[in-house]
Amino acid sequence: LQTDLITEFSTHPVRNIVNEDSDPLQQQPVVEFDQIARAYFERGGKMFRPMVALLMASACNEAVAQTNKFSPKLESLEITESQYKIGKIAEMIHTASLIHDDVIDEAETRRGRATINSAYGNKTAVLVGDYILARATQVLCSIGRPNVISIMASIIEDLVLGEFLQMQLINREKLMDDYLRRVYKKTASLFANSCKSVAVLAEADKPLENVAFEYGKNIGMAFQIIDDLLDFVASQEDLGKPTSNDLKLGLSTCPLIYAAEQYPELYVLMSRKFSEEGDSEKAHEMVINSSGPEKARQLARFYSTEAARLAATLPNSNGVTDSLLEIALTQLDRSS
Ligand code: FPP
Ligand code: MG
Ligand code: MG
Repeated sequence: LQTDLITEFSTHPVRNIVNEDSDPLQQQPVVEFDQIARAYFERGGKMFRPMVALLMASACNEAVAQTNKFSPKLESLEITESQYKIGKIAEMIHTASLIHDDVIDEAETRRGRATINSAYGNKTAVLVGDYILARATQVLCSIGRPNVISIMASIIEDLVLGEFLQMQLINREKLMDDYLRRVYKKTASLFANSCKSVAVLAEADKPLENVAFEYGKNIGMAFQIIDDLLDFVASQEDLGKPTSNDLKLGLSTCPLIYAAEQYPELYVLMSRKFSEEGDSEKAHEMVINSSGPEKARQLARFYSTEAARLAATLPNSNGVTDSLLEIALTQLDRSS
């Protein structure tokens, strides 16, 4: 998949179909632009989203084949080209959102390297993110299924709304509800709707489609809650990006929301988004000395256990369900 993503930005399909006689206005390859996008995919990354989507594709294909056992279609057990494209699109949407996120967060490093905004400036970073999103849209349309296009488009909408919600002022009465809604939109929606798309492409029935969606949603919730916990407790070397960053960005995440129940003075710092000298250091100290990190871990455990329960309802051909289970349960132990 990584090679495929690199190729996507090496041989541009539009460029491949233009020939000597065609419209010169269309013969304007912007090679540097492809290079910047390609370099981003060459850095690698965990490819966690495609992995979850493609394992789910395999599990759904098997489940559908089992219900049709009087007319088994052997080829249906394999991941189809369309399902593979969902994995690829998920990674492209994720990458585009990270490139834009680094502009918003003014981040200097990502995956242990300089961000596009720090190397080339904000304008280039915004456009490269848009470009990757445009290419993802082309791949999505090539699947040729309007309802899958709609499901995958809802991810982009959720990402943008999640990012917007994050910028709004906090409401003390519903801190946790708002946090969980944000986590769903900015992270879990991508897992949930990619899993739902591969289920739709497996011709799954509604209950199976729902299991796929809910598995992805619960994995995504656990993943982001652990991410927010690691921001307080992990090292920069492990993460490949700055830690203790959320407070500096004015964000109230779950370890802090729990810590505030123990140290109510945190509400004052939260409402001014840790903007005064020494605020973020003070808040960090209080969070680390509170039961916030442990409670955050328990919340992540709730979601990962639910994901594991859902995975266990799927057929286990070639250990696919074992892998989905393992992914659910190892979320809690990851350190990067
Ligand atoms: C990382 O969060 C950011 C996201 C998961 C989503 C960002 C979404 C946008 C910027 C909207 C634009 C979307 C598209 C599709 C172009 P973080 O800042 O908490 O994580 P980090 O520590 O990895 O930076
Ligand atoms: Mg960020
Ligand atoms: Mg951000």
